[in-house]
Amino acid sequence: MLAPRNAARRISERARGSTLDFVGSHILSVEQFERTDIDDLFAVADAMLPYADRQRITRVLEGAILTNMFFEPSTRTRVSFGSAFNLLGGDVRETTGMRASSLAKGESLYDTARVLSGYSDVIVMRHPVEGAVAEFAAASRVPVLNAGDGANEHPSQALLDLYTVRRELADRGHAIDGLRIAVIGDLKHGRAVHSLLKLLVLFEDVSVHLVSPPGLEAPPDTTAALRERGHAVEVFHTLADGIGHVDILYVTRTQEERFASQAEADHYRGLFRVNQAIYTEHCEPNTVIMHPLPRDSRAQAQELDDDLIANPNLAIFRQTDNGVVVRMALFAMVLDVAAQVHERAQPVTWYTARRTPPSGRG
Ligand code: NCD
Repeated sequence: MLAPRNAARRISERARGSTLDFVGSHILSVEQFERTDIDDLFAVADAMLPYADRQRITRVLEGAILTNMFFEPSTRTRVSFGSAFNLLGGDVRETTGMRASSLAKGESLYDTARVLSGYSDVIVMRHPVEGAVAEFAAASRVPVLNAGDGANEHPSQALLDLYTVRRELADRGHAIDGLRIAVIGDLKHGRAVHSLLKLLVLFEDVSVHLVSPPGLEAPPDTTAALRERGHAVEVFHTLADGIGHVDILYVTRTQEERFASQAEADHYRGLFRVNQAIYTEHCEPNTVIMHPLPRDSRAQAQELDDDLIANPNLAIFRQTDNGVVVRMALFAMVLDVAAQVHERAQPVTWYTARRTPPSGRG
């Protein structure tokens, strides 16, 4: 695997204690971020809220082109990256599925990257193979944002999850420092979990409950990094034991597509189901419920039961909304327009429905 562009510079900057230079950088791993980078990114994300809420429009990326390349299924990541770019005034080109691209004819990632970076100002890529997005980025002439590489990382998801944690806790009078979180489900293959656990290392006094079936525990490197920085990490194999005494439940889907056989995946499906009765019995009042989505709503799975929809602590749709502003912030910082967004702002002239969820706070 080739090293990402700018990596050497970033590593030397890290050694000097300086922060990520967003402008022109690939965003491949949350390990590129220091805590001050997170603060900067979230401040820009906050500034994007009026645009995402359709109170104002900006054309700051007018003329810019994003190429979205998704070689694995995606709904919210692909569409929210595209919407974020559109909301900044840019245009989006889509490639989905290997069979629709020349990779199916044996074209290398290197050639594809050289070609597509000639057509685009920035590329967002999801690929089933760990490290493939970094390999692609090394050959790209424009910044590449990792939208998930196999079971490895999903940086933008973890950033929007952390942004959601920050907002939900702020509503309850807390900061991220001192966070108590239960991370539940397929912790072995879940790339959103891997990136989130790596980001939490940057905060102070975090307590993590890792709740998974035996065999689907989080990779040792993610937990070792937390422990090395003095955070409390406890491992649980039952839901009832793991979901008490936390601020956040972060529930995940069994990543069926990462198993050697469907029979093996079936063995784990539906083992941990959170519903209102379990929540009431085991969780502290106002525990926030998050999930990167999609949740598996088939009868045998239901890791989050439909009866939670009226629970105001279910934050899953606030989480998806937050994905737009965090991705707008990533584009604005990587393409160096964050300071110009407001200068080019105009009022919205069309009817905009207020985005009130039908029941509960979503
Ligand atoms: C996650 C993913 O693709 O890794 N989904 C997402 O991007 N929101 C989690 C999952 O698929 O379970």
